[in-house]
Amino acid sequence: LQPKSLAGKRVLLTAGPTFEPIDPVRGLTNSSSGKMGFALAQACVEAGAAVTMIAGPVTLPTPRGVRRVDVQTSAQMREATLRNLPGQDVFIGVAAVADYRPKMVSAEKIKKSGEPLTLVLECTSDILGEIAARPDAPLCVGFAAESQHLETYAESKRKAKNLALVVGNLVQDGLGGETNRVTLFDATGAYPLPPAKKIIVARCIVAHLASLMEKFDGKPRA
Ligand code: C5P
Repeated sequence: LQPKSLAGKRVLLTAGPTFEPIDPVRGLTNSSSGKMGFALAQACVEAGAAVTMIAGPVTLPTPRGVRRVDVQTSAQMREATLRNLPGQDVFIGVAAVADYRPKMVSAEKIKKSGEPLTLVLECTSDILGEIAARPDAPLCVGFAAESQHLETYAESKRKAKNLALVVGNLVQDGLGGETNRVTLFDATGAYPLPPAKKIIVARCIVAHLASLMEKFDGKPRA
């Protein structure tokens, strides 16, 4: 029997979208299905890791063996992620975290007036960037969903956020569907994977991650 590639490792990941309220019945979100993050959580469990998943609002079933923490907003996702960070060997930011949230949340339902409505948005904090910048950062993995110039954007994101690995995909190849086509970017180059079901892609990402961990002997190096 082959030893499992992430045996004894602890993996924390974020998955799904976030939901940023505008008022008690409305909010801003995005079209992340959560499927890639859930598949990756499952693949990490299969590889022998202890997995904690911080999940935005999705109705997908929790993969067997995964410890799941449900959140709604990017601020809650950040807080839950930081709370669960101590002792983790790997952090994978798969969630499509909202980049902006309404600056003011109305306590009451906003009534329509027939006039244009202006919402003032503020930036959310970059969970992955913040964690990867810490001196005690685990090995950090990011996702880059782009609509063009995948190679340039994914590689600059890897360097800017100090990540060991970036999983890049063109949004038209993966968003919402059952399959995905990704390219892995690490310090040694770009590795395109064939298009496949998300669980197969997730297992390939885990295999690559495990080989990086072995190379760095557990010490994160971007
Ligand atoms: O900068 P960009 O949003 O394109 O980077 C995507 C990567 O960063 C993903 O891995 C995503 O999970 C993570 N991210 C995050 N917090 C944010 C924005 C993105 O963790 N506020």
